[in-house]
Amino acid sequence: MFDSRPKLAVSVTQTGECYPCSPDESLLRGMLRLGRKGIPVGCVNGGCGVCKVRVLSGTVRRLGPISRAHVSLDEEAQGYTLACRAAPASAVQLQVCARLAKPFSRAGTTVSAPFASTPTKET
Ligand code: FES
Repeated sequence: MFDSRPKLAVSVTQTGECYPCSPDESLLRGMLRLGRKGIPVGCVNGGCGVCKVRVLSGTVRRLGPISRAHVSLDEEAQGYTLACRAAPASAVQLQVCARLAKPFSRAGTTVSAPFASTPTKET
């Protein structure tokens, strides 16, 4: 069945992959369309924490409560959330975290290291 809902672009920083996500669906549901094996889908109601992400740019809309055991208020202020409980409100760039990072770090993917530094020689 064809899904005609408008989509926003969500990109995963670690791999550079981008997937379309509707403003009324969760970041996790859209991410599953990447077809990547091993993306953990747990409780899908903000309770287990396996889908933790950090929103680096763009805005998201909260779809429901999230467990404070997995995302503290301080972390939330830094952009962390749970992908099953957030929908894109604009184009989003995110970083996959915790258990969700594992399937994105397997061989065969392009992993960028934007913050890697080159050692400098002291004189
Ligand atoms: S799947 Fe359990 S918190 Fe998202």
